[in-house]
Amino acid sequence: MENNKQLYKFEIAKYLGVSSDSVFLFNKGRVALYTILKVYDIKDGDEVIIPAFTCVVVPNAIIYCNAKPIYVDIDAKSYNIDTSLIEAKITSKTKAIIAQNTFGLAPDLNELKRIADKHNLILIEDCTHGFGGSYFGMKNGTIADASFFSTQWNKPFSTGLGGFAIVTDDRIRVKFEALSSHLITPSKKEEIMLSLLITARKYFLKPFIYFQLVKLYRLLSKLNIVQGSSSGIELESTNMPNNYLTGSGNVQAIVGVKSIRKIDQANQDRRISAKIYNELFENLGFPTINIPVSENHIFLKYSILVNNRKWVFEQAEKFKVELGEWFISPIHPIEEHFEKWFYTYGENSIAEYASKHIINLPIIASVNEAYRKRIINFIEAIKPELIVP
Ligand SMILES: Cc1ncc(COP(=O)(O)O)c(C=O)c1O
Repeated sequence: MENNKQLYKFEIAKYLGVSSDSVFLFNKGRVALYTILKVYDIKDGDEVIIPAFTCVVVPNAIIYCNAKPIYVDIDAKSYNIDTSLIEAKITSKTKAIIAQNTFGLAPDLNELKRIADKHNLILIEDCTHGFGGSYFGMKNGTIADASFFSTQWNKPFSTGLGGFAIVTDDRIRVKFEALSSHLITPSKKEEIMLSLLITARKYFLKPFIYFQLVKLYRLLSKLNIVQGSSSGIELESTNMPNNYLTGSGNVQAIVGVKSIRKIDQANQDRRISAKIYNELFENLGFPTINIPVSENHIFLKYSILVNNRKWVFEQAEKFKVELGEWFISPIHPIEEHFEKWFYTYGENSIAEYASKHIINLPIIASVNEAYRKRIINFIEAIKPELIVP
C-alpha cells in the first residue's frame, strides 16, 4: 500500500524535477491548498489575493483558515490574473498571492514574484489545470514558494479525485509532514467506489452519452451515493465539510502512476487540438480565438466566448459534442449569495463577462474522423453566436 504512494510520489517528483520528499498526496487539490495555507500560518484576519476567475473551493480553503479572499480581475486574453491590478489590493493584512495557471497557461510569474518579494508575501502556484506546462522552461509548480495540483476528473491527468502539493523549503516541509500525518485515509468503500467510477468513465464516457452520464454523476453525488468533486455544503456555505482533511488512497496512487507516464502524449494532443481550432476559427473568418498560443500552454481547455450560451449548449447536445462549462461564474459554479465568499458582484468586469459567455471545446487531436466532422459542423452552426475576441 505505502509502496504505491511512494512510487506515485517518486513519479511526480521525477516529472517535476524535485525530490520525492517535497511531494505530499491528498484526496483533493483543495485540501493540498488548505494545508499549504495552514503551514504558512494564514489565519484570522489575513488576506489572500486570488484571481476573480476560479473554483469556489479556492476561496473556501482560505475562509476555512478564517482568512479573507481578495479578488483581482483577469486579463481578457489569457484568463489569468491581471498583475497590473494586484498592488492596489495589497494591504497590511495581505499574506499571500495565489498564482493560478488557468486552463493550463502559466500566469506572469516573474511579475507575480516581483510583487510578492516587494511586499513580503507568500506566492502559491495553483497548478490544478497546469500539470506538464511550464513558464520560461521551468515546470509549473516548481517556481513559487509552494504549489498544488489536482487530479480530479477533468484535470491534465486524472485519478478520479486527487491532488498533491509541492513544498521545497525544508523548514516548511517539516511542518507540512506533521500536518499531513493527521489526514484521514479514504475508507475501503470509498476506494472501491472510486475505482468503479474510474473504470466506468474509461469505458462508458463516450460523446453520444456524455451529457446523460454527466447529469447522472452529478445527481448521484448530490444524493451522496457516489463521492462527487464537491459536496453540497461546499457550494452552499463556507463551512468545512466533514472528512475534508483526507489524504490520498491506494487506488489514486496506482492510477496516478499509470497516468503520469502518459501525460506528455495527453498534453501533446491538447496542443495539437488548439492548433486545429485556431486554424478552424481563422478559416471561418475569425481571428485566432482568445488564448495566445504558447509552447508552454497545455490547453487543458480550449475556451471561446459565445452569446446565448444556453442555446449553444442545446446545439452541443444535439451534435453530441462534449462541451465543458468552466468557469460559469467568477467563483465557479456559484451563481448567487456571492457575499458569503466575500465577492462583490460587479467589481471584476472582465472575469464576469468571460464567465457569462465562455464555453470549452473538447480535445480534437485524437478523435475519429466522424467525431471531428461533428465538432466542425457544430462550430459552423454556432458561428452567428461566436464573440470576436
Ligand atoms: C482553479 C482551481 N483550483 C483548485 C481546484 C480544486 O481542485 P480539486 O477539485 O482537486 O480540489 C480546482 C478544481 O477544479 C480549480 O479549477
